[in-house]
Amino acid sequence: MSRIFSGVQPTGNLHLGNYLGAIRNFVGLQDNYECIYCAVNMHAITVWQDPEDLRNNTREVAAAYLAAGVDPKRSIIFAQSSVSAHAELAWIFNCVARLGWLNRMTQFKEKAGKNRENASVGLYAYPNLMAADILAYKATHVPVGEDQKQHLELTRDIAQKFNKDYGTETFPLVEPLIFGEATRVMSLRDGSKKMSKSDPSDYSRITFTDDRDSIAMKLRKARTDPDPLPAKLEELDNRPEAANLVGIYAALADMTRQQVLDEFSGAAFSTFKPALTDLAVEKFGPIGEEMKRLRADPGHVDSVLKDGAERASALAAPVLAEVKDIVGFLLAR
Ligand code: TRP
Repeated sequence: MSRIFSGVQPTGNLHLGNYLGAIRNFVGLQDNYECIYCAVNMHAITVWQDPEDLRNNTREVAAAYLAAGVDPKRSIIFAQSSVSAHAELAWIFNCVARLGWLNRMTQFKEKAGKNRENASVGLYAYPNLMAADILAYKATHVPVGEDQKQHLELTRDIAQKFNKDYGTETFPLVEPLIFGEATRVMSLRDGSKKMSKSDPSDYSRITFTDDRDSIAMKLRKARTDPDPLPAKLEELDNRPEAANLVGIYAALADMTRQQVLDEFSGAAFSTFKPALTDLAVEKFGPIGEEMKRLRADPGHVDSVLKDGAERASALAAPVLAEVKDIVGFLLAR
């Protein structure tokens, strides 16, 4: 059976964009793949994290996987730092990847901003650790959002160079799994910006911990424009807020955006927003409730993480041993 690996950073405020773009898709994959889902806390500290927040947010990612419907018996849920193979393999990949490759990573440029001298070395080497996450399990498929495609290309480059340099076929070339339309969820306050964990306005996003009332309130206050919904998709092109709400509806209802327009063309937002609110409350509300229940039971979440870490370590250990041997590290016997 092919193997899936994916990760979510425990940096707080998990939102509808994380759900529709990633976590929701993790659930269905369990039927066809062996799935490993990670809270990537080592990636999180590439920028400053308050330690207590990091602990809570790591549990929060695990809880989000569970609340969305990942089954911890079938799949593995764990925290990256609990399995040392990630760090060990990342070091080896630091010595495989080339500076020139990392210099081309657009996410580093965005995150480091103007003050690149002051960015952490970890932020720069981030994609090598991501390659280690995936290849420590020889995962074959990785479900991610569009924004991670370049990092997956780098994972393939690292796998390929390692195999070539050492004359082996150790690592598979991973395939991205990028899901259907409208996975790009935009801010509810500004349709030109992505929905984001770090937006100062809580009204810009619907989070995993919002209850039904706050989901409804945020959608009621969501920015729109004065026109009714059009009949054709092209007519949404210059209407970012309308396009975003139609996209969210489509994703939640498992419809195409055109199907949503077929149903609502000519409708004013005074009609469409309540329909969207009902749908969002129906689909996303129960997840918030489950999150609340899991929050009240951190012992349960911790036991899922512990079990996951043991199973993940058992899978990664032989891969790491194989790699160390190939590289020429003496194996302690
Ligand atoms: N970089 C990913 C993100 O920010 C998170 C991540 C880390 C990841 N390691 C991974 C995703 C391995 C997929 C596979 O979204």
